[in-house]
Amino acid sequence: TIERTLVLLKPDAVQRKICGEIISRFERKGLALTALKLLALPPETAAKHYEEHLGKSFYPALIEFITSGPIVAMVLSGPNAVKVVRAMMGTTNPVDAMPGTIRGDYATVMSSNIVHGSDSIASAQREIAIYFTEQELVQ
Ligand code: CMP
Repeated sequence: TIERTLVLLKPDAVQRKICGEIISRFERKGLALTALKLLALPPETAAKHYEEHLGKSFYPALIEFITSGPIVAMVLSGPNAVKVVRAMMGTTNPVDAMPGTIRGDYATVMSSNIVHGSDSIASAQREIAIYFTEQELVQ
């Protein structure tokens, strides 16, 4: 079934100028860009996105990092998009991420792990609505 998922290229990806390479990977795989923007994430929006992590030890550093510079937010769609993107990203901790995955190829530490992808269809729906209006999603 065709799904939509939210992908963020985090400030480390923008700063290292590897956004194009990462978007290319998703396109080559067969996922379609449905929405795309570059933005500086306001702290309130970051807090909304990461509300499930509120209270965890890494939460303050997470908010600080994700608001430290511009990010690229996109909606990718395609068959099984949520799972496909998760597989392509590799594990959250880049130490364990297999070579060939995005984190496995581009990241070394969990706090700056290049990319975010929704972890379920429900998360994707919630997260897409944080970054995009319905009008911004190409049909
Ligand atoms: P992400 O998929 O964006 O979701 C939450 C983020 O918190 C995660 O990627 C990591 O970048 C970051 N993070 C930092 N420390 C941890 C940790 N100990 N466990 C999980 N996520 C962490």
